[in-house]
Amino acid sequence: MHFSLGMCLLLYPIILFLLNLASLKEINLCNSEHLSTVPDLSLAKILERVNFEYCTNLVEVPSSIQSLEKLGDLNMRYCTSLEIFPSVINLRSLKTPNFSDCSNLMKCPEIAKNIVYLNLKGTAIEELPKSTGHLSDLITLDLKDCKRISNLLESICLLKSLVTINLSGCSDITRIPNISGKVRFLYLSETAIEEIPSSIGSLSRLSCLDLTNCKRLKNLPCDVSKLASFEKLILSGCTRITRFPEVSSNIKKLLLDGTKIEQIPSSIEYCFELEELGLQNCTRFHILPSSFCKLKYLRRLNLSGCSRFESFQKFRVTGIH
Ligand SMILES: *[C@@H]1O[C@H](CO)[C@@H](O)[C@H](O)[C@H]1NC(C)=O
Ligand SMILES: *[C@@H]1O[C@H](CO)[C@@H](O)[C@H](O)[C@H]1NC(C)=O
Ligand SMILES: *[C@@H]1O[C@H](CO)[C@@H](O)[C@H](O)[C@H]1NC(C)=O
Ligand SMILES: *[C@@H]1O[C@H](CO)[C@@H](O)[C@H](O)[C@H]1NC(C)=O
Ligand SMILES: *[C@@H]1O[C@H](CO)[C@@H](O)[C@H](O)[C@H]1NC(C)=O
Repeated sequence: MHFSLGMCLLLYPIILFLLNLASLKEINLCNSEHLSTVPDLSLAKILERVNFEYCTNLVEVPSSIQSLEKLGDLNMRYCTSLEIFPSVINLRSLKTPNFSDCSNLMKCPEIAKNIVYLNLKGTAIEELPKSTGHLSDLITLDLKDCKRISNLLESICLLKSLVTINLSGCSDITRIPNISGKVRFLYLSETAIEEIPSSIGSLSRLSCLDLTNCKRLKNLPCDVSKLASFEKLILSGCTRITRFPEVSSNIKKLLLDGTKIEQIPSSIEYCFELEELGLQNCTRFHILPSSFCKLKYLRRLNLSGCSRFESFQKFRVTGIH
């Protein structure tokens, strides 16, 4: 066998880290697109950060990764060929595993409960690992565009620290469990959900609910009016919505473009803080109550495409576009 310079260059990153393994705190092999396997890492006892981002030919991560007791940050983003990952990574130090856009990864490993951030965006996973229900420190769960995941999220209602849940683009999800706790941002756009459970009324910190293009979604439960921190509700493109949602008075942004709502109740005057109201293409919309003119912070109202809308009632507002 002979070594060419080109081959040495290819192997360079691997040689380098084998030499230093025991003293390494960080391995950064990002963009090593020729890397197809990871050598045994068990000697790297003090390793804290591993970065394999854009190692687009990396198929397997060996189980030796489980012996990295100090590992805190694991970046596997865009390892688009990654298929095999140890089924358990029980590392107490691990906080932020990032598998974003590992589009061939079908199984998420069982993980230790200290994790604060779990990114599985754009992976091929079909379910969350059973250990998910024990991730009591988890703050962000990003499952955006996991097209193959279906309704297996019962355990996420046990996660007491969760602030952000992103299920946008999970087109197989038809319902969500009774989520409780500190959740502030709930992204559910482009999902197949039909109903928002009435337990949503218990999310006292919920600030943003994005339901863009949930074509099967029915009218929201009145419990939404209990949400004292609610600022942003997006129902644009939800073509089965026929009723104006009963929101609390804190709401700032309410996007209802393309829904089938017919009228806005006069109680809208109590939405003192409303800044933006989206009603474009609401083809059945026809009544705007006179109380509407009490909304002094409203900056944006676009009624284009509201073909049944005729006129404002006693309307005297300035500064609206
Ligand atoms: C994980 O990856 C996503 C998207 O690829 C990025 O936005 C995010 O900041 C990363 N998070 C961490 C904790 O590394
Ligand atoms: C979740 O998805 C929404 C909409 O697709 C996006 O705007 C938001 O930034 C995402 N949030 C996180 C934390 O990834
Ligand atoms: C959610 O709560 C409702 C009423 O509180 C209950 O009827 C339903 O069974 C619960 N669903 C789950 C999946 O726990
Ligand atoms: C309204 O409909 C027009 C024409 O079909 C489309 O171009 C536009 O993007 C729609 N706007 C919204 C906000 O849905
Ligand atoms: C109102 O909506 C229409 C159609 O979506 C768009 O063409 C127009 O630019 C919008 N006007 C403003 C002021 O935003």
